[in-house]
Amino acid sequence: MSTITQPEGQRTWLLEMPGSSYAITSSRESGLPRHLHWGRPIGHETASAIAAASPLRQNVEHVAWAEEDRLECVGWGGRRYDEPTIKVDFADGTRGIEWHLADQETTRDGDAITLVLGLQDRAYPLRVELFYRIFDDSDVLERWARLVVPEHGREIVVRRAYSANWWLPERTGWRLSFLHGGWGSETQLERRILGSDKHVLESRRGTTSHQYQPFFALDADGCATEDHGEVWSGQLAWSGAWKITGERTAGGQVHVTGGWNDFDAAIVLTPGSELALPVFAGLYCEGGFGEMSRTWHDYELRHVLAHPGRSPQSPSFSAKPQHHDAGAPLPKLRPVLYNSWEATAFGVDEENQRQLADLAAQMGVELFVVDDGWFMGRKDDRAGLGDWHVDVEKFPRGLAPLIEHVKQLGMGFGIWIEPEMVNPDSDLYRAHPDWVLHFENRTRTEKRNQLVLNLARDDVAEWVLSTVDDLLSSYDIDFVKWDMNRHFSEPGWPQRKSANPERAWIAYTENLYRILDRLHEAHPAVDFESCSGGGGRADLAILSRTRQIWTSDNTDAFDRIPIQEGFSYAHAPLAMMAWVTDSPNPLTRRELPLTYRFHVAMAGSLGIGGNLSEWTPTQRAQARDLIERYKEFRPVVQYGKLFRLLELSRDDIAALQYIARDERAIVVFAWSGARHYGTHSGWVRLKGVDPTASYRDRETGTLHLGTTLRELGLPLPLLLSFSSMCVHLERVD
Ligand code: GLA
Repeated sequence: MSTITQPEGQRTWLLEMPGSSYAITSSRESGLPRHLHWGRPIGHETASAIAAASPLRQNVEHVAWAEEDRLECVGWGGRRYDEPTIKVDFADGTRGIEWHLADQETTRDGDAITLVLGLQDRAYPLRVELFYRIFDDSDVLERWARLVVPEHGREIVVRRAYSANWWLPERTGWRLSFLHGGWGSETQLERRILGSDKHVLESRRGTTSHQYQPFFALDADGCATEDHGEVWSGQLAWSGAWKITGERTAGGQVHVTGGWNDFDAAIVLTPGSELALPVFAGLYCEGGFGEMSRTWHDYELRHVLAHPGRSPQSPSFSAKPQHHDAGAPLPKLRPVLYNSWEATAFGVDEENQRQLADLAAQMGVELFVVDDGWFMGRKDDRAGLGDWHVDVEKFPRGLAPLIEHVKQLGMGFGIWIEPEMVNPDSDLYRAHPDWVLHFENRTRTEKRNQLVLNLARDDVAEWVLSTVDDLLSSYDIDFVKWDMNRHFSEPGWPQRKSANPERAWIAYTENLYRILDRLHEAHPAVDFESCSGGGGRADLAILSRTRQIWTSDNTDAFDRIPIQEGFSYAHAPLAMMAWVTDSPNPLTRRELPLTYRFHVAMAGSLGIGGNLSEWTPTQRAQARDLIERYKEFRPVVQYGKLFRLLELSRDDIAALQYIARDERAIVVFAWSGARHYGTHSGWVRLKGVDPTASYRDRETGTLHLGTTLRELGLPLPLLLSFSSMCVHLERVD
């Protein structure tokens, strides 16, 4: 059981999680919460010893103490030149902050314990509360803050409000791992040594972006591997513009700050108002990057996807659990879906969707999703967004007959929408040109011929809510693919003029959350997917509301391997949507075997996105068998523990292994890239296998000893380029 304790008369708080500790002390001199430890489990004795020794870092004694005290909340002021967490302007022009610790509270709610440290400015009526929440079954520590201006205070302007800063321990050679990319090439793992410069990961795009994920991992001396070594990592639970800065300070300390992006930031807080910041979750683990990912996955399944509603003071997590069995520890398994986009693009109509649905159902698909193109004026991407009425040319009888047909085939029905957007060529834009984000006298920059509705405006948000609500109330819809195909430009809110138009950056995402939460309330059985031209909006907060991410618009199975691998650093396989599409791939023109495409997509939540009417009967039969096979081991992949065995960049073969939660089944996938003649593929050793058990291959019946799997492994019959394998083992007693 995790605990948060402060021994009587001592100034030290110890947060003890199953495999790690976090310790804070309250500085005698300044009365401020100061960071002591984040790492291996320690007791109060060690925490007190660290507190007594620090901050007398002998070599830079005066620098360390005066400028770089490891404060839990760094307010700008004094002789500090590192990144502050919070910076505000007071009404009289004062801009520095001087805090003192005013109060504290620790509460337990089920398996979660929360410590709140209340800080008060010494001269001005401004309070900040620092939240620390831990769970009995996880090493993830959720941190966030809340700023409060009391009724008797005066207006302040917040210029920066990061959720938390993380101090790293005394080590050398810090290496940063992060996820970088672009449209169609999201979540590529990159690593670099933290030098004397700052390393900034950020999005100023209004979504998390394809370019960087709000995720970091640090290891010392670059020596952590997949299976060994200490790793400190963090994820921001916020779906709008964000920033994470890693820095090695002048005194040699390393800290990471993160939260809302402070670019163009100004948040006016009036007396009696408060500002709740998103969760910045941190995780320490000793078992390398593999254990780091497994811990994030488990946390995501149990605390983000299944039971998100328990950090009411932060905007991050949905207050309403999504559709799942009350009390169930895990979210429900994701159905095998079919999506029409790559088959029919904007040319959807009742007839072609019926045909696709028939074929999909024969293959064992469980959810049929009609993508873009079903609404008025949507013949291509130049028009239609905003006019969410069924196109009667394409669906003369409306959507109901198609939905009925899909349901009769035993599948759920899903639909694509992009409700935050508008094409200038739409009735909505003609009626409300002022509803979009824009600056006066400036170009309204289009991307994909569309503009962004200003969701920060409550009237616009209400319109989006009622539009989607109408759609879900009018039709028997089980699933919504919620898209957001372009990033912000000109994020203006001219109607606010002098009344804090910069607030749009944050209010937009807050209103998006409100809309999704209210839709969950009104339509609890409907599932949502977060899509933003692929993986452009992927983070813990959106996952608490949408449960799955459309990982990338790039569906080339070979390109997908590193994308999915990077995604797996931060997010669970259940949340990772992966489709099998046509060959040659529409984007890359690469031809790949059907089994290869399946094996890659089966590594997450499986979907089919090809033009089934062009698949041969043999291919469809093969697909049916593969889908059936996937369903047999689906819980192992979607709920299991993931081990990255081989990486394509290093080994020219990639391999992943999943172990069922009850450890009674194992699934292994391996894929080769372009292979040279004369290279050997050899064997792949499995991890986490019980050496006292035996495992039977479900397909061939071959019996493997646990010890053999551990010491020698499975043979990799991947001599040819772009070959793949999928093995499903069951434990036999
Ligand atoms: C985005 C999505 C695609 C598809 C198209 C439709 O690009 O990522 O999957 O839905 O929009 O326009």
